[in-house]
Amino acid sequence: MPRTYNDYIDYLNETICIPAVQRYEAIDLFAGCGGLSLGFEAAGIKTMGYEMVGDCCDSYKKNLKSECNQKVIDENTEFPAADIIIGGPPCQPFSRRGKQKGKNDTRNGFPAFIEAVRRVQPRLWLCENVKGLPEQNIEYFQAVVEQLKGLGYKVEHRIFQLVQYDVPQNRERLVIVGHRGRFVFPQPNDYIVTAGEALGSMASEIPENAAFLTPSMDAYIAKYEAASKCRNPRDLHLDRPARTLTCRNLAGSTSDMHRIKLPDGRRRRITVREAARLQGFPDWFEFVGTEESQYTQIGNAVPPIFAYKLAKAVIDCLQGGKDGI
Ligand SMILES: C[S@@+](CC[C@H](N)C(=O)[O-])C[C@H]1O[C@@H](n2cnc3c(N)ncnc32)[C@H](O)[C@@H]1O
Repeated sequence: MPRTYNDYIDYLNETICIPAVQRYEAIDLFAGCGGLSLGFEAAGIKTMGYEMVGDCCDSYKKNLKSECNQKVIDENTEFPAADIIIGGPPCQPFSRRGKQKGKNDTRNGFPAFIEAVRRVQPRLWLCENVKGLPEQNIEYFQAVVEQLKGLGYKVEHRIFQLVQYDVPQNRERLVIVGHRGRFVFPQPNDYIVTAGEALGSMASEIPENAAFLTPSMDAYIAKYEAASKCRNPRDLHLDRPARTLTCRNLAGSTSDMHRIKLPDGRRRRITVREAARLQGFPDWFEFVGTEESQYTQIGNAVPPIFAYKLAKAVIDCLQGGKDGI
């Protein structure tokens, strides 16, 4: 039960490591830097990524045991046979913060995901997305579920509070699973990990090349927080889980950018390593690309420690009986 800084980072580094023997094969669609794949590999499942951005593929290949194919996936993309398909179709079409174009957004990855499932006929598939999909796009969500059921799967979904799964962050995400046996979603913890426990002494340090907010950014934040009657300043609070990490509030200079307020009153942007910790990545994971690209990869990722718990449930399902399968 990770309770203190040393426990938490030791727990992450020890849990998220890749075993020599891997039993099942999974294809990861829209793989990003491999957050979802990493949790599956740590649980003993061999993965193969498909992703269009070069930096993401390079991070994936640098850290995971397997290949990441750099290509733009569409309904015509061909895939090899696999036991499992996993993936995180781009969430911008369904994100609360986006323009909410949903299925009409050209970035909608669900048609390609469904077609991949139809062609490969994996024993189980699992997909992660924003909770806005069922909440604000219920008709499209139901249509997606019906199509996937029509391919011969029992389909179940759940919205997870990741803070209950060892992620030191208030992140809520949708997970949809299709299987032909019995699938039991992972159980929540009865404790949470705070940002302070996850970051430990890093939070009070001034790293080399620290990015301090400028006086005009501080003034902008003060104005924004006054106008929005913000009760809790958006600086990182070490005694609680962090706010949701997104590409926007990590990679962009926005008023809700993740930052730490130092004892001397200066604010600095959280570092890539701090962001990775708060996103449940072990410290040995190295991101490739510019700083902005690295923050984007982290903001987009499924926290590997959460993915690991999902992967364990997937293995239980596949081992669970004749058509478990
Ligand atoms: C939400 S992120 C996935 C994060 C990933 N599951 C992880 O855990 O690290 C979606 C990814 O899909 C990629 N992407 C979007 N459209 C794509 C397409 N048509 N083909 C391939 N990759 C695509 C984006 O570059 C982005 O990295």
